[in-house]
Amino acid sequence: MAREFTSVGVVGLGTMGAGIVEVFARNGIDVVAVEISDAALERGRATLKGSTDRAVAKGKLAEADRDALHARVDFQVGLDALRSVDLVIEAVPEHLDLKQRIFAELDRVCKPEAILATNTSSLSVTEISVATARPNQVIGIHFFNPAPVMKLVEVVRTVVTSADVVADVEALCARLGKVDVTISDRAGFIANALLFGYLNHAVGMFEAKYASREDIDAAMKLGCGLPMGPLALMDLIGLDTAYEILDTMYRRGGRDRRHAPAPLIKQMVTAGLLGRKSGRGFYTYERPGSPRVVPDEWTPAAAEPALADGARAITQVGAGHARSELASPAVVAKVGVAGSGTMATGIIEVFAKAGYEVISVTRGAEKSAKVCEAVKTSLNKGVVRGKLSEADRDAALGRITWSATLEHLADVDLVVEAVIEELSVKKALFASLDEICKPGVVLATTTSSLPVIDVAMATQRPADVIGLHFFNPAPVMPLVEVVRTIRTSAETTATARAVCASLGKTGVVCGDRSGFIVNALLFPYLNDAVKMLEASYSTADDIDHAMKLGCGYPMGPFELLDVVGLDVSLAIQRELYLELREPGFAPAPLLEHLVTAGYLGRKSGRGFRDHTNR
Ligand SMILES: NC(=O)c1ccc[n+]([C@@H]2O[C@H](COP(=O)([O-])OP(=O)(O)OC[C@H]3O[C@@H](n4cnc5c(N)ncnc54)[C@H](O)[C@@H]3O)[C@@H](O)[C@H]2O)c1
Repeated sequence: MAREFTSVGVVGLGTMGAGIVEVFARNGIDVVAVEISDAALERGRATLKGSTDRAVAKGKLAEADRDALHARVDFQVGLDALRSVDLVIEAVPEHLDLKQRIFAELDRVCKPEAILATNTSSLSVTEISVATARPNQVIGIHFFNPAPVMKLVEVVRTVVTSADVVADVEALCARLGKVDVTISDRAGFIANALLFGYLNHAVGMFEAKYASREDIDAAMKLGCGLPMGPLALMDLIGLDTAYEILDTMYRRGGRDRRHAPAPLIKQMVTAGLLGRKSGRGFYTYERPGSPRVVPDEWTPAAAEPALADGARAITQVGAGHARSELASPAVVAKVGVAGSGTMATGIIEVFAKAGYEVISVTRGAEKSAKVCEAVKTSLNKGVVRGKLSEADRDAALGRITWSATLEHLADVDLVVEAVIEELSVKKALFASLDEICKPGVVLATTTSSLPVIDVAMATQRPADVIGLHFFNPAPVMPLVEVVRTIRTSAETTATARAVCASLGKTGVVCGDRSGFIVNALLFPYLNDAVKMLEASYSTADDIDHAMKLGCGYPMGPFELLDVVGLDVSLAIQRELYLELREPGFAPAPLLEHLVTAGYLGRKSGRGFRDHTNR
């Protein structure tokens, strides 16, 4: 007969434990909440109170329900209080010896039929279970942060966990309104195995001063639709916990260098910068435990208005080295766009709508006519959807001149090149622009994979050359990666950023490396998901579920791969691998095979999923 869970115990009321208490108590289950000391107990109680008060303030919880919720929780110091509970969930720090000690003690204290569960993120549930005399009743119940919000629970079954224990825990998850994926005991399970390499890589980018914390986070939020950027997520997880998870994954997961914690994480932990819980991590918070970010010495807030009024650009260059550069953005009124593809079409529309005078240059009148038609169609859609007035549409169209002669770009203030992704073609074009354009003009390339410096060196004015990596569809996507080379001047960067702002886009500044910010962080994660599927650890559906419900991603990795195209994804992953020589970036053989077989995703009717009947 299935177990009734009328009372559960939670051990450790930190970031996760306090949230787990709330999940159970909200669902009418009595909770014995245990900590190591009175002070820690009070912190846990305050966290629960803060969270439920916020829910009441937001109208998500009635006051009476909050009071009933609190009445279900019995706060106690020491494990002896757990004598009569049906299930215990342990959420103490991520150390194997500590967890083993606690499980041995729980085995002694708890009634024989009680299930003992761990919320570990990366440690072996099997190793924890053997500290007890009932390993068949030990299981992993891995909640996601914040536990009351995230829908996913990973249920981790070891080789000795009884089938009835698994079934009862799955039923309990359903009762809590959670979606569970049941998996075997492997470092990082599904979500963390895919998440932590990415988080560590983002910290590495910040540490290497490749981009600022705000820009790395904005890139992933705006470029991929993630609920929060990687550095803000590290702060939410807690840097001490993240360090332990990475360290364990490195040791248990085949010593993948991508899991070797970035040195900065250890330094920050040692310095007491643990993230939200200590009030300071990558960002500074109003007070310990608060989700509210407050400005600190690295906040570039002052830069944005300054940029807008053209006075001064402050360029933040990472890990605590805010450097102010006295660079005034140049005035840009007239913009040339070279190219006739999807990106060029979108970019022409974006500039024209923002009030710039635009000269479109293609390789012939026929191509110009096609681009003109595409821009008109897109603007008309805006009118039909009520996003653009007819007068604004006509004004935008009136600002565009159509040409097939590069010489017409002689007096523009900015050129955006969006021709075919071939270095020889782009270099030849930039050499011509160098001859044609007046001095001081910003020359921008939209390349998504070629080194911007190669293009810059085809001119005699590399200081004026920069990357402006728009995302597709350009009129919709709010992000532009502003890629500066080692020769790009501060003024060119300031101008590029100011132009992005005037387009209503967020320009994030980064270095000239393969994949810039977004692709460099996104594609290795997608590739890892393919490797996980290939290893038969889980199914495409469960992996997609885990990332959507556990991490709030708008699409799972296989959904996204099918949309982006497997061939495109493979090409990007190959570039990253070739440039960075990171063994973990080697394309997944399954991805290569699918591409060879012509399964390219939605566009070919089949990728990881069959789209022919959908
Ligand atoms: N932080 C996350 O985002 C996250 C997400 C999922 C799972 N986890 C996992 O949850 C577990 C807890 O992580 P956290 O981030 O909540 O840690 P935390 O440091 O925020 O909290 C740990 C709590 O355990 C308490 N504690 C320590 N020793 C104890 C003992 N002997 N008895 C009772 N309480 C004790 C501490 O006082 C502290 O309040 C870890 O295994 C972690 O990997 C964390």
